[in-house]
Amino acid sequence: MRTYRIAAIPGDGIGKEVVAAGIDVLMACAARDGRFALDVTHFDWGSERYKKMGALMPEDGVETLKHYDAILFGAVGAPDVPDHITLWGLRLAICQSLDQYANVRPARILDGIQSPLRGVRPQDIDWVIIRENSEGEYSGHGGRSHRGLSMEVATEVSIFTRAGVERIMRFAFDMARSRRRKQLTVVTKSNAQRFGMVLWDEIARQVAAKYPDISWDRMLVDAMTARMVLHPDSLDTIVATNLHADILSDLAAALTGSIGLSPTANLNPERGFPSMFEPIHGSAFDIAGQGIANPLATFWSGVMMFDFLGEAAASQRLMAAIERVAADSALHTPDLGGRATTREVTEAVLRFIHGQNA
Ligand code: NAI
Ligand code: MG
Repeated sequence: MRTYRIAAIPGDGIGKEVVAAGIDVLMACAARDGRFALDVTHFDWGSERYKKMGALMPEDGVETLKHYDAILFGAVGAPDVPDHITLWGLRLAICQSLDQYANVRPARILDGIQSPLRGVRPQDIDWVIIRENSEGEYSGHGGRSHRGLSMEVATEVSIFTRAGVERIMRFAFDMARSRRRKQLTVVTKSNAQRFGMVLWDEIARQVAAKYPDISWDRMLVDAMTARMVLHPDSLDTIVATNLHADILSDLAAALTGSIGLSPTANLNPERGFPSMFEPIHGSAFDIAGQGIANPLATFWSGVMMFDFLGEAAASQRLMAAIERVAADSALHTPDLGGRATTREVTEAVLRFIHGQNA
């Protein structure tokens, strides 16, 4: 029997609640499947550790993670630690060191979930957003000088490399090819940003030439927000830079019903390093500790983990269970307008997993 080594990093706030629920569900899927097992190690990395020891994870944290098959991550962020410290100290430190350059964010309206858009039916939003996850605006290039003086200066340099743009474009075209509509939208801002974004566009065109079966178009990011709201059914696969896709995917999450439903995968497609799966939401201080966080985003991230590990049957079984919970308003958490708790949703998913026929 194949055993996968899974690193669980719950992090902060509701990250702890949803990852605990997520591990229960993933273990149940493995047991139900019977052909593979999960060996889970928990890491207590996060803001608490930072406050006690001065670092969110140990110095050899990334090296430790290299011995795992996949990582399940919750969220990081605390009210009394600056967000750039928590983000760079854990999540970005992992994504960038493990070269998880392709961030995949499906956005789909599940049956039973109401989009805030008037007149939008579930079939009208079925997108996959591909976010460049290793460079661009979040490369970490920059600095500050003359602190506190009137001449103080700060730079935040966007880095676009040919190798980096080419690999994300190929990944996006491949993703579009794997989907029914075979359609890709490349998001850009090359009217205002004349160097990095123009290189981005040029490489998109070069890579597109190798995918004659894919119909593709280019959208300026500002116009893209309007298109997502006004003509959601005109979109399918979408590729955007680190910053642009960060913003567009939160919009996508809201349009599909709740940020508590939205999963993501940080992939190293070549599998030289482990990939990381996580809900896109943060640590949600406002509801942490109340037991009402929606765990479905984390479960759906587990679906993406099973897919990437090649466990298609477990992936389908878990997705079917998520869809059944979403379809039943008695099992909706408060973010979806319901009254169910994290535990109730988790129990229901577990029941569906155990109850399904092989
Ligand atoms: P957030 O995603 O934590 O919360 C935004 C809103 O959505 C809140 O009202 C929250 O209650 C609600 N929400 C989020 N997830 C939910 C869930 N599963 N179920 C029900 N409701 C949910 O974003 P916010 O408030 O901007 O950030 C809080 C902290 O999280 C900050 O420190 C931020 O830096 C961090 N953060 C971390 C991320 C990560 O680790 N990947 C991603 C986004 C934010
Ligand atoms: Mg974000």
